[in-house]
Amino acid sequence: MTLFWPGAERAPTERGGVQPGMSTLLQHALRRQPTPRTPIWLMRQAGRYLPEYRKLRRRVDFLTLCKTPQLCSQIMLRTVERLGVDAAIVFSDLLLILEPMGMQLRFAEGEGPIVGPPIRTSADVDRLGELERLDQLEFVMEAVRLTRAGLPAELSLIGFAGAPFTLAAYVIEGGASRQYHHAKRLMLTDPGAWHALMDRLARAAARYLLAQVNAGADVVQLFDSWVGCLGVEDYGRYVLPHSRTVIEQVARVAPVIHFTTGNPALLPLVREAGGDAIGVDWRIALHDAWRMIGYDRAIQGNLDPAVLLTSPQVVRQRAVEVLQQAAGRPGHIFNLGHGVLPQTPVENVLALVETVREFRFRPRESPPPRSS
Ligand code: CP3
Repeated sequence: MTLFWPGAERAPTERGGVQPGMSTLLQHALRRQPTPRTPIWLMRQAGRYLPEYRKLRRRVDFLTLCKTPQLCSQIMLRTVERLGVDAAIVFSDLLLILEPMGMQLRFAEGEGPIVGPPIRTSADVDRLGELERLDQLEFVMEAVRLTRAGLPAELSLIGFAGAPFTLAAYVIEGGASRQYHHAKRLMLTDPGAWHALMDRLARAAARYLLAQVNAGADVVQLFDSWVGCLGVEDYGRYVLPHSRTVIEQVARVAPVIHFTTGNPALLPLVREAGGDAIGVDWRIALHDAWRMIGYDRAIQGNLDPAVLLTSPQVVRQRAVEVLQQAAGRPGHIFNLGHGVLPQTPVENVLALVETVREFRFRPRESPPPRSS
């Protein structure tokens, strides 16, 4: 068997001789090998747009749900089966890692997540503890094990973590933000405190991802959901080295998808930070993004989630446009440029998956030679 990323040969023995997701479509695409069709999965594929999820949520609050592995695995397994996608992502949340680091976490109805008390100064930075032990996140590892056990061998299981910047933005702002002024102020005025905070979050994210791989995740995705608020210089100086630290450690045992959104100008540096595949959003055309990133990396994306609010007909047309831009080149993983929106009609998601599954790229025929 040919191995395509360093250290991958260790995984089968660590997992008792089986590596279920080893030869899936997603794995092939991550290695940029030709696949019979383009693999597809969707960020937030299991969520509020699904009536069965909303029904469950009437009984169980979101944090309790995340801490009940049996429910997490069932939600994801049933969703994957219903949609016909090529991968499951562990049902969990990006912010759970912050609890064992000493932060309080709350999901308020209609407000989104609240993290507190916020870290604003260098003195506050020490309130964020080191993620020493993972036993407080054991429920995530159990969700990984149960999901992997219930998933057909030909489908991949994706583990995930927030990238250091996105986690830092949450602990500094205390929740979602539009401008990230507090985070930028700390970054620009106290680089020492900033790098200390980012170092700690990078160590935590790497440890957390390695544990998920150990528990059975085949692939991992690093979400840098809020990094698009930065310019290129600041990304290079204050973020890139920390994301690279995480990816370098994890890439030894599993392929990594490195996702960012909001600012396509960052893509060459995102590539530099690492990732077998780079996740891109709709703010740049897929073919332009791939050219910028380089064809020696796989690419994931990049349909605008708003397209799924329209009709099956528009969804099909716009999905084909993305697929045409990938031009049959190996290494395209179809996804949205960000998560499925809660108002999305399920039939549009089904139309999208069907379109991608049925699509076969045919190069446009070149015009016949002109006779002179
Ligand atoms: O299908 C899946 O992708 C499920 C697993 C998953 C969730 N969150 C479940 C969730 C994943 C991979 C995440 C990652 C996550 N969480 C990110 C990165 C992806 C992104 O969207 O950029 C971020 C930024 C978070 C933080 C977070 N969690 C926010 C901002 C919110 C509230 C806003 C929103 O979109 O709901 C959550 C809550 C959350 N995470 C829900 C789900 C299903 C909704 C909770 C509910 O039922 O009310």
